[in-house]
Amino acid sequence: MALLPLAVVTGGAGFIGSHTVDKLIATGHRVVVLDNFSTGKRANLAQHAGSDRLSIVECDVSHGIFAGLAAITAKLGPVERIVHLAAQVSVVSSMANPGCDMQINYGGTLHVLEYARAMGVKKVVFASSAAVYGDVVKMPVAEDIPLQPMSPYGINKLASELALDCYASQYGVPTTALRFFNVYGPRQDPTSPYSGVISIFADRARSGRTLTIFGDGKQTRDFVYVGDVVRAIAAALGDGNSRLIANVGTGQAITVKELASTILDLCGGSSTIEHAPARSGEILDSRARVDRLRDQLGVVAETKLVDGLRATLA
Ligand code: NAD
Ligand code: UD1
Repeated sequence: MALLPLAVVTGGAGFIGSHTVDKLIATGHRVVVLDNFSTGKRANLAQHAGSDRLSIVECDVSHGIFAGLAAITAKLGPVERIVHLAAQVSVVSSMANPGCDMQINYGGTLHVLEYARAMGVKKVVFASSAAVYGDVVKMPVAEDIPLQPMSPYGINKLASELALDCYASQYGVPTTALRFFNVYGPRQDPTSPYSGVISIFADRARSGRTLTIFGDGKQTRDFVYVGDVVRAIAAALGDGNSRLIANVGTGQAITVKELASTILDLCGGSSTIEHAPARSGEILDSRARVDRLRDQLGVVAETKLVDGLRATLA
């Protein structure tokens, strides 16, 4: 019997990564997770314990991935596809420590691409971000507008996209970059002050603690459910669509203020809302144009915010 295709998921123990692993295993892949467990957790992959479809290697992508993959590929055979999600994910942390962001987020991408080039990997899918756009006036944001990232995080995501395109055009490594908007859902870790806003608000609302809104709360975000994001990743991982860059969002946006009151309504608790100064380096508004996602990858992010929030709160 033919072996199942082997995919690597960097950052596979994290929020989006662990859902990606679930999806790939469910669709007939063997998966190797590369993760340094800085924010990811083995518990996120506990549902696959004992499965011969999943291997986990502790590895820091900013130091290269050849050594981490050598033993496992000697046993399992060559890597066919890579989903590169490993990153430091906070815009705020990147403002405080730009060098660290560059080493992990840009350096890590180069190491993944070098491996793909050397080993003839058939597809690399990269987690880029809406942060590459910067402050855009006209919504929704299309992929081909001029890019003006406002944070080292956005710069290193953009630099990674350029590297992907270069490796595709110059070395023939098929690559696709997905610009995720604000992803949310179960397993998003609320414990860091820099965690995603929905995970923080949900955690606080459930325990009756105060929700803090940075700025006036009129800033908008396009919140996309992790299940929809994972469908986009799976579609991009197939053959074709090399050098494609596509937004992954819903095409809808709400203000942070509206988000806070929706979560409080769903929780029905006694939390109050306070305001704190706006964060520096942040964009004001964000809403994806989703034509490419639909037309090139055949994916529509269809989970309604209220349904996704219910699933997250559950
Ligand atoms: P996460 O923190 O849950 O996942 C990141 C994973 O990468 C973790 O498992 C972490 O341990 C691992 N990691 C971090 N540094 C590493 C390193 N040097 N070597 C190996 N592993 C390392 O975050 P997430 O929300 O699941 O983000 C996944 C990807 O999606 C990231 O690239 C992030 O920039 C991107 N993204 C996320 C969002 C969002 O809203 N969550 C939006 C846009 C882009
Ligand atoms: C998020 C992602 C980033 C991604 C980007 C794409 C995280 C931690 N960050 O950045 O990786 O590239 O989307 O669009 O997942 N806020 C509050 N109170 C809080 C927390 C946040 O008011 O307690 C506000 C923030 O000031 C911001 C908004 O909520 O205006 C969203 O913040 P956050 O979830 O941290 O995400 P982004 O900065 O948009």
